[in-house]
Amino acid sequence: MKRGLLSIIALTALLVSSSAWAALSLDMQALLEKYRKEADVKSFSAEDGKKFFATKRMHSKGEERSCATCHTSDPRQKGKTVVGKVIEPMAQSANKERFTDPKKVEKWFKRNCEWVLERECTPKEKGDFILYMTSI
Ligand code: HEC
Repeated sequence: MKRGLLSIIALTALLVSSSAWAALSLDMQALLEKYRKEADVKSFSAEDGKKFFATKRMHSKGEERSCATCHTSDPRQKGKTVVGKVIEPMAQSANKERFTDPKKVEKWFKRNCEWVLERECTPKEKGDFILYMTSI
C-alpha cells in the first residue's frame, strides 16, 4: 500500500516538474515511463540528452558519426540524410509532429542508434534524448 502511494507521488512530481512532459501524448508518456523503469532512474536528464546527441563516435567503417551528423548540431534546424534528403527539425518546438507516435519513435531509434552506435540505444539514452528534444 505505502509503496504504491509513494510511487504515485514520485510520478506526480515527475509530471509537474516538466512542462515538456505535459505536452506529450498519453502514448508517449507511457513509452517514457517504460524507458524510465527499464533504466531504473528517477527522471531523465536533458543535459545528458544534449551530450548524447552531439557525441561523435568512431564507426567501424572508419568515420565519425553522431546523431547530429543528420539532425545537425542545432536540432531546431532542418537536417539532411547522407544522400542529401531534407529531414524536418527534431526539436518539438520546431516540429509539432515529433514524438507523437511511439511506433515511429521506436522504429527510428532502432535504425539510427544502429547506424551511429552499432548497437541499440539504452532506455536511459532514449529517455534523455526525448527530454532534450522536447525541452529546447
Ligand atoms: C543517417 C542519418 C541519421 C542519423 C545519423 C540519425 N538520424 Fe534520426 N532520423 C533520420 C531520419 C531520415 C528520420 C526519419 C525522417 C523524419 O522523421 O523526418 C529520423 C528520425 C528520428 C526519430 C523519430 C522522431 C519522431 O518522433 O519523429 C528519432 C527518435 C531519431 N531520429 C533519433 C535519432 C538518434 C537518437 C540518433 C543518434 C543516435 C539519430 N536519430 C541519428 C536520420 C538520422
